[in-house]
Amino acid sequence: MASNRLSDDFLRELREKNEISEVIGSYINLRQQGSTMKGLCPFHNEKTPSFVVYLETQSYYCFGCGAGGDVITFVRNMDNLGYIDAVKSLAQRAGMALPEDGFDDTLSKRRRRILEANREAARFFHSVLMSEKGRGCLDYYLGRGYSMSTIRRFGMGYAPDEWRGLYDYLHAKGFTSGELVDANLVRKSEKSGNVSYYDNFRNRAMIPIIDVRGNVVAFGGRVLDDSKPKYINTSDTLVYKKGSGVFALNFAKDSGSRSLIITEGYMDTIALHQAGFKNTIACLGTALPDEQVNLISRYADEVLLSYDSDEAGQKAVRRAIQAFGRTGVKVRVLQLKGGKDPDEIIKKYGAERFRAIVDGAENDVEFRLGAIRAKHNILSDDGKINFMREAVSVLAQISSEIERDVYITKLSNEMNISKEAILIQVNSTRERNRRVQQQNEFKKIQTSSFSQQGSAVPIKALSAVKAQEALLACLMRQPNLYKRFEESLNVDIFADEFGKAVFEAILPFLQRTEPIELTLLSQSLSAQQISALAGIMARAVITGNTAAVCGDCIKTLIQEKAKTDVADPATLSDEEFRNIFKKDV
Ligand code: UTP
Ligand code: MN
Repeated sequence: MASNRLSDDFLRELREKNEISEVIGSYINLRQQGSTMKGLCPFHNEKTPSFVVYLETQSYYCFGCGAGGDVITFVRNMDNLGYIDAVKSLAQRAGMALPEDGFDDTLSKRRRRILEANREAARFFHSVLMSEKGRGCLDYYLGRGYSMSTIRRFGMGYAPDEWRGLYDYLHAKGFTSGELVDANLVRKSEKSGNVSYYDNFRNRAMIPIIDVRGNVVAFGGRVLDDSKPKYINTSDTLVYKKGSGVFALNFAKDSGSRSLIITEGYMDTIALHQAGFKNTIACLGTALPDEQVNLISRYADEVLLSYDSDEAGQKAVRRAIQAFGRTGVKVRVLQLKGGKDPDEIIKKYGAERFRAIVDGAENDVEFRLGAIRAKHNILSDDGKINFMREAVSVLAQISSEIERDVYITKLSNEMNISKEAILIQVNSTRERNRRVQQQNEFKKIQTSSFSQQGSAVPIKALSAVKAQEALLACLMRQPNLYKRFEESLNVDIFADEFGKAVFEAILPFLQRTEPIELTLLSQSLSAQQISALAGIMARAVITGNTAAVCGDCIKTLIQEKAKTDVADPATLSDEEFRNIFKKDV
């Protein structure tokens, strides 16, 4: 974090020169609507816009997923940058000079050096491949059917069979040993007090992993024979998180298709690109962490899972259906018949066969119903009932009513059960799911914005939280109110850590009766706190006398402070739940 703080003047200028609707508008389409602008949220998948940009407060908030903040928060989340890097990127966009020693940028400098080292390394591996030393590897690539133009396009290379080939090359280019270890290109060994360095990748076919901004963020290195381990991959660095990378998204995002084919590995993806399927990517790792899924869903409306037909592949399919189900991205599953993976199918039967598989791909509903059907003997009554029970839970997850109807009709005919009976079951399951989801979302909102992240701080009485929200919204909007309530307004009356942190951050502005902008608070509050604050400002509809509202809120907070009872959201009545989701204060 910053050693010296950026000045308010600098941040104010940064904000003025980066009009929020212009910055956000360069990522997504926004449509004017009065004093606000609306668009489809880039942070979750949706069909109707719930993402709002407020020109007046230069902030944004998504009523669908709760993402919110100022222009810096937006760039941080969108481009996955740290605070300083987001500030830099905006300063650069506006043509502003950065204050000389305004902040400690060691981290962002280290990050930049890793990217530079990676880029040089990719050049090195590629040029070695094209040299005499790379002969064997080039033969390997060509033998697997990759063309020279594919090899160049993907920047494929070869790490020579030497202990310090890359090390010496990059050292001569001015990279320090520390920087190379940082990049995971080089390893450090300490034997009996002697420190030495050696290349991480030796005698391997090298595939660079390039992110959507064109940075070389990591490498995968494959052996040329059958020895183990088959791949060595870059492990965690400051620019790459192992298992969360997406391979070839840099190409696929420009393929003109929002239907992306996902394979299990590098080689399948490269083979599909070469065969003309330029909308193919690979998820590196099978865990499918949220950030990977979210990244993909930014560029896809539909994914076609093209996993190996073995048990591990099918397990990965089930996991992927679950992970993407959360985002609203449609999932279809390719049935790879006649080959173990796409690479093999294309080699054996050609691209047309794969095209036919893509066109005939089952959607996830068919895939799941098929899997359930295989589990039960539907000729027996028991089997039929158990099959239907599981089938209903699959059908209940389909969001489109028409699509639901299609499958209900199909099942009704197939199983000889009345459509109405199935419909009743499906609808009641949907209702139950909806309630559970609402409860979970409520818990999430409570724990993420109103209490310390990850800790089990008991949730304060709801009226205090609501009063705190309203009070903060009033003060943000009308800092002059502070003077009227100065006597009773102090940090102790706030309901939780979040409220206290915000109050402390805005206090200097209140004392000087200065307008408060989210951007000016961005150094004192975390991105998450800024986000929550943007949400409060967006949701607050203050009607009537703001001063009176302020007074009431302060009174409520002081009263609630006196009580010690806490409300557990799990024990709330439906009525209390509904109140929480009301947008007025
Ligand atoms: P595969 O074994 O299917 O590899 O593993 P592949 O890329 O298709 O290679 P070929 O066609 O057999 O030559 C799928 C993916 O799993 C990861 C890699 O990302 C690979 O592309 N993997 C596999 C590793 O990271 N390490 C390993 O040892 C094996
Ligand atoms: Mn393979």
